[in-house]
Amino acid sequence: MLKVLLIAGARPNFMKIAPIYAEMKRRSGEFMPVIVHTGQHYDAAMSDAFFDDLGMPRPDVYLGVGSGSHAVQTAKIMTEFEPVVLSEKPDWVLVVGDVNSTIACALVAVKLGIKVAHVEAGLRSRDRAMPEEINRLLTDAISDLLLTTSQDADANLAAEGIPDEKIRFVGNVMIDSLLEHLKVAATSNIRDTVSVVEGKYAVCTLHRPSNVDDEATFTGIIEALCDVSQRLPIIFPVHPRTRAKIDEFSLGEKIAASNIRLIEPLGYVDFMRLYSGAKLVLTDSGGLQEETTFLGIPCLTLRHNTERPITIRHGTNSLVGTDPDKILAAAKDALEIKTEGERPKPPLWDGMASARICDALAAA
Ligand code: UD1
Repeated sequence: MLKVLLIAGARPNFMKIAPIYAEMKRRSGEFMPVIVHTGQHYDAAMSDAFFDDLGMPRPDVYLGVGSGSHAVQTAKIMTEFEPVVLSEKPDWVLVVGDVNSTIACALVAVKLGIKVAHVEAGLRSRDRAMPEEINRLLTDAISDLLLTTSQDADANLAAEGIPDEKIRFVGNVMIDSLLEHLKVAATSNIRDTVSVVEGKYAVCTLHRPSNVDDEATFTGIIEALCDVSQRLPIIFPVHPRTRAKIDEFSLGEKIAASNIRLIEPLGYVDFMRLYSGAKLVLTDSGGLQEETTFLGIPCLTLRHNTERPITIRHGTNSLVGTDPDKILAAAKDALEIKTEGERPKPPLWDGMASARICDALAAA
């Protein structure tokens, strides 16, 4: 029996942990999963809503660390997590993604001699100004088992000298969650609530510090979105960081005069219903680049790089950067493209990644 601490900290972690937890519960003779929530995200809309939608029980352990600078937040997670590892004595600590909780818990575990598995290993934007890139590089360097979503990630790890026997290409566990919840998402009323009909609106999400923390960059992006919204209404669920910056840079009036509609952050199921009916998605989220690729929805990524090149090579994603003219031009092009037929999905984005993750842990 393997005791595994499953680490969840921030919004993009919850839909990756849920299917792994469910698979471990199905294989309860082999696995004893313990959910540890660091509390990096704590608002109901950023955390509890996801546990409810994903059918996950409340965390077994809640560290309640909250927000802070990178150093403060990472250090708090480490100090709170260390006694948990000492008392739980797990066989494995499993971390997902690239948030501060990922590196903090991996570092604590490895120094206590506990094996670390990293789900979504090997993704690289090659942009070290991005805090997540540092988290990805460091977590991969100290993990014992590196579980990847795409073969370009395997190649990145090999190029960094990580031995083959530590790397397993298991596919994309976020797609396990997406497939599991598509049916229930069809019952969500969110499109009626925000008064849109399928194929006649765009969805936008933005939260990267590089996009929203700099006034000139963020203002330029908002101006481009205002122009795009003259062609197609944009529904924009707003992350707390972004909401604060809209206020700080006094962008509210400009937005109110446009056809952009700001709404509160949505839960997993409502958000799936919203983006799955969109004509176009504009985002700086990593997860949404993958979800739109899987569903064949055109996606403009407002960044200069992506750690998920498969969404461009194999999917519907384009990198458009943050220049307002380029965003507008790319949006015009995307709106003129006729929707293509069914595209092949990236390899192993098939709803079975959590089973392969459990197999890999059992065999390691
Ligand atoms: C974090 C992750 C990022 C991920 C994103 C998803 C890191 C380095 N960054 O960024 O990779 O894409 O989550 O959302 O781990 N806040 C609230 N309520 C909350 C959480 C945050 O109001 O529940 C506010 C706080 O003012 C906080 C700010 O949002 O200071 C930013 O939160 P933080 O967790 O520091 O970073 P994110 O931008 O959310």
